[in-house]
Formats: sequence, C-alpha cells, structure tokens
Amino acid sequence: MNIGVLGTGIVGQTLAGKLRTLGHEVVMGSRDPSTLAERTEPPRPGMPSFAGWHRQNEAVRLATFADAAAHAEIIFLATSGEGAVASVEAAGADALAGKVVIDVTNALEFVDGVVHLFVGGGRDSLAERIQRAAPGARVVKSLNTVTAQVMVEPQSIGGGDHVMWVAGDDETARAEVTTLLEEWFGWREIVDLGDLTGARALESYVLLWVRAWGALGTPMFNVAIRR
Ligand SMILES: NC(=O)c1ccc[n+]([C@@H]2O[C@H](COP(=O)([O-])OP(=O)(O)OC[C@H]3O[C@@H](n4cnc5c(N)ncnc54)[C@H](OP(=O)(O)O)[C@@H]3O)[C@@H](O)[C@H]2O)c1
Repeated sequence: MNIGVLGTGIVGQTLAGKLRTLGHEVVMGSRDPSTLAERTEPPRPGMPSFAGWHRQNEAVRLATFADAAAHAEIIFLATSGEGAVASVEAAGADALAGKVVIDVTNALEFVDGVVHLFVGGGRDSLAERIQRAAPGARVVKSLNTVTAQVMVEPQSIGGGDHVMWVAGDDETARAEVTTLLEEWFGWREIVDLGDLTGARALESYVLLWVRAWGALGTPMFNVAIRR
C-alpha cells in the first residue's frame, strides 16, 4: 500500500520504519525535505538524528506534505500538535479528500514544567480542527495515547494485553483503521468510541499519561480494560 507519514519526529520515524519493514511504499512529509539530510543533531538526548535514521531507512522517500499526501492511499498525521493544522493545510484538503487520515497528534504544551492542553477543555480537539481543515478527509483519532514504540509494538508491554481506541465521524474508516492496526501492528483490543468528539477524551487522557510517565519513570506502559 502507498502510505504517507506526515511528520519526521520520533513518531513519524517509528511509524514509517515499521510500515516499510512490512513492505509498504512509504513517503514521509516535511515542511522542507531538502534540509532533512542536514539534521545531524538528535532532537532529544538519546534519540537518533533524522539523518542517521534515514541512512538506516533509505527506502522511505522524503517529500513535502503535499507530495506525501498526494502519493498516499492512507495517511498518518504525526506532526507536532502546534503544526498539525498547518501541515494538513499544506497537504491540501483536495489531496486528503476521501482518504483515511490517522491522527496521532496531541495538543500538549509545557508551561513552567507543567503540562497543559492548548486545545481542549472538553469542547473541541485537535482532531476536530484537523477535520475542519480537511472536510473531505476521513479523520480517525488513534495511537495518540501510547508512546511511539508501543504504537507499532503493542506486544512489547504486558504481552500486548492492553487497549487502543479509535474515534472518527466515518464509521467505515474507524473499522478500516481497527483492522489495519490489528494486522500491521498486532493490536488485539481496539475500542470504537464513535464520532470524532471522542478525540476530546483521547487528547485529554494524555494529561494523565504524561503525569503517569513521570510517576512511573518510563513511557513504556498503557492501560487495560478489566470488566
Ligand atoms: N513522542 C511520542 O512518543 C508520542 C506519543 C503519542 C503522540 N505523540 C504526538 O505525535 C506527534 C509527533 O510527535 P514527535 O515527537 O514525533 O514529533 P514533534 O517533534 O512533536 O513534531 C515534529 C514534526 O512536526 C512538524 N512541525 C513542527 N512545527 C510545525 C509547523 N509549525 N507546521 C508544520 N509542521 C510542523 C515538523 O516538521 P519538519 O519535518 O518540517 O521539521 C516535524 O515533522 C505530536 O503531536 C505528539 O504530541 C507523540
């Protein structure tokens, strides 16, 4: 399948690398792909530089957001929260129309070391802003509630016995994303939260997730449902 990954950070790299390993054609979108090879500084301590990552993943083509979206049958949106709507606008509403867009972004900002949401309050979400920027796209919020490695390797914690969520206005798109996450990454329990207002809950949950990371000392965790 032709897959577009909009975003070059650790999430974009993790998704693109895994999808390429599975044999998909992957194009990664950036504001300026011509400068990516020059990024030799790790974005955070302990992480590979983009240039280093791409040397190990040369089959992933680098493109503009617009080129990556035009190429793709399905799109992962993995830009920063602040850049999410701008990246969708740059991709182009026409290029995204009719396509499933899996939105993994979060609206987090840190002020004096305390985490906030810059969109939210239970009345709106980043995913809904993205949907408004590209009305014809089939936006599905998912994967934003776990760290990048767990997105593509749920079995790496708790034997894979934990939960993923989907929310989006297009019921068929939610079902398609559920199947893809099961088949590509091995998710076993995916709960359908219904329409895209469910993204308000998924994005708000990440406030708890960040605090729990601090308390647990690792991002390698997730929640499971017990009835
Ligand atoms: N890190 C995690 O494990 C994790 C887990 C769950 C969800 N998330 C969410 O996933 C997303 C990606 O996270 P990340 O840590 O991989 O990367 P990030 O550093 O948050 O974002 C990097 C990407 O955002 C783009 N970007 C930054 N500012 C922009 C702007 N003004 N306009 C357009 N694009 C802009 C960059 O474009 P260029 O390529 O042009 O520089 C780059 O592709 C975030 O929304 C994050 O909250 C992260």
